[in-house]
Amino acid sequence: HFHREIPEGLRQLPGPSSLPVIGNLLELGSKPYLSLTEMSKRYGDVFQIRLGMRPVVILSGYETVKQALTKQGDDFAGRPDLYSFGFINDGKSLAFSTDKAGVWRARRKLAYSALRSFSSLEGKLPEYSCVLEEHICKEADSLIKELQNVMTTEGKFDPFRYIVVSVANVICGMCFGRRYGHHDQELVGLVNLAEDFVKVAGSGNPADFIPALQYLPNKSMKKFVNINNRFNNFVQKIVSEHYATFDKDNIRDITDSLIDHCKDRKLDENSNIQMSDEKVVSIVNDLFGAGFDTISTALSWAVMYLVAYPKVEKQLFEEIKEKIGLDRTPVLSDRNNLPLLESFILELFRHSSYLPFTIPHCSTKDTSLNGYFIPKDTCVFINQWQINHDEELWKDPSLFSPDRFLNADGTEVNKLEGEKVLIFGLGRRRCIGEVIARNEVFLFLAIIIQKLHFYELPGEPLDMTPEYGLTMKHKRNCLGVAMRPKDEH
Ligand code: HEM
Repeated sequence: HFHREIPEGLRQLPGPSSLPVIGNLLELGSKPYLSLTEMSKRYGDVFQIRLGMRPVVILSGYETVKQALTKQGDDFAGRPDLYSFGFINDGKSLAFSTDKAGVWRARRKLAYSALRSFSSLEGKLPEYSCVLEEHICKEADSLIKELQNVMTTEGKFDPFRYIVVSVANVICGMCFGRRYGHHDQELVGLVNLAEDFVKVAGSGNPADFIPALQYLPNKSMKKFVNINNRFNNFVQKIVSEHYATFDKDNIRDITDSLIDHCKDRKLDENSNIQMSDEKVVSIVNDLFGAGFDTISTALSWAVMYLVAYPKVEKQLFEEIKEKIGLDRTPVLSDRNNLPLLESFILELFRHSSYLPFTIPHCSTKDTSLNGYFIPKDTCVFINQWQINHDEELWKDPSLFSPDRFLNADGTEVNKLEGEKVLIFGLGRRRCIGEVIARNEVFLFLAIIIQKLHFYELPGEPLDMTPEYGLTMKHKRNCLGVAMRPKDEH
């Protein structure tokens, strides 16, 4: 990197001094969201570190992040060219690739509209308001049956192992029009490898910043490449089957709708065909990948918090019993009527901040923020964890307390408080699955809490230590679960 002259009127970015070759990599440590939060107290909302030879700007503070990602959205909407991202979706990922603004925007629009139409689509059965609701209710039902089976045979279970299959099935339904059994080796093997993916894809992975490391034997990098290959092969096989059975008068799912878009585009002389068919159809890889890991991690954390805070679990159950009763299954339209559950979910997002940094951003041109000069092509990390634990924003941020989101008489969620929780990013690159994700986390939880009671096993204390990554997972725990009797008081 050349030393750039700072334009007049702008200041040079503050930050710690760094070592040759490795930069500040050691200070980052194994919990970068904590070490960078500490540094932000010293250097402010906008500062610079070096990872290897590369300068990286760290953004903290709600107002600063909002300024960068919304008001100056275009300046910060790029993605950096990172070694590990090149393996995701064959380098053609919508979320991780360095696609230029035009192509990225076109793909994002396609992804968004496919997702919207195939989640809000009317279901086959009249009792469901949309296919999303239908998929979730059916998967929750099969999850509960499966957990009962495991309890009978094993007496305990690893929640993530089962939740991840149920959640994957919801997005599989929308993307591929199919579901898999809880013992399907192909799917279960694949989705249970999510940890190996998120560890390497987290912000600050040394191999992304020190090129020499890319040539040394590296176990986690090997696993990462392997899971990406498995994942791509899995999707590729399904996509080929869709091409073979495609019928434009019967668009079955998101994969079909993307194939249809390619065919339509070829007939349309005015369309700008700067995008290969592969770049269109591979959008489905992103939707499937983003759609199962994030939501199953949320639900798995939710189960941990329910076990760690049995009083909260009881209150949530009472709320459902009172507002919905125990005779019918909760549905999406109950969401406005369950403020305690809504607060629990917000507090789960805030307290765990299990997505501590957004996917890294990159400046698309020379720009400035809070008076500091940021050159084009600078890698930028957004510290969501810092915002969710900022003492200026939250009272006792380290306390798990869903009540903080309720109004004084506990009957309504304080919307403004809720909006301060940052877990989906903001602005141009904000998550496109947010509405689905919030609905899905809500409905799975409402159904699970209505029907099940989770508990810690004697001799197996709960371990809530997060393991750093793009999404942070708790250690694998073994829990017990019991059906709630219908007439419980
Ligand atoms: C991007 C969070 C669920 C699809 C993102 C980003 C975050 C995020 C933090 C990056 C924002 C940035 O770089 O600034 C979450 C969380 C979820 C969730 C916490 C669940 C609780 C989903 C679902 C889907 C999805 C269900 C789709 C089915 C995407 C896509 C992007 C993205 C395609 C890339 C957007 C882009 O780069 O333009 N998400 N997400 N996400 N998310 Fe989600």
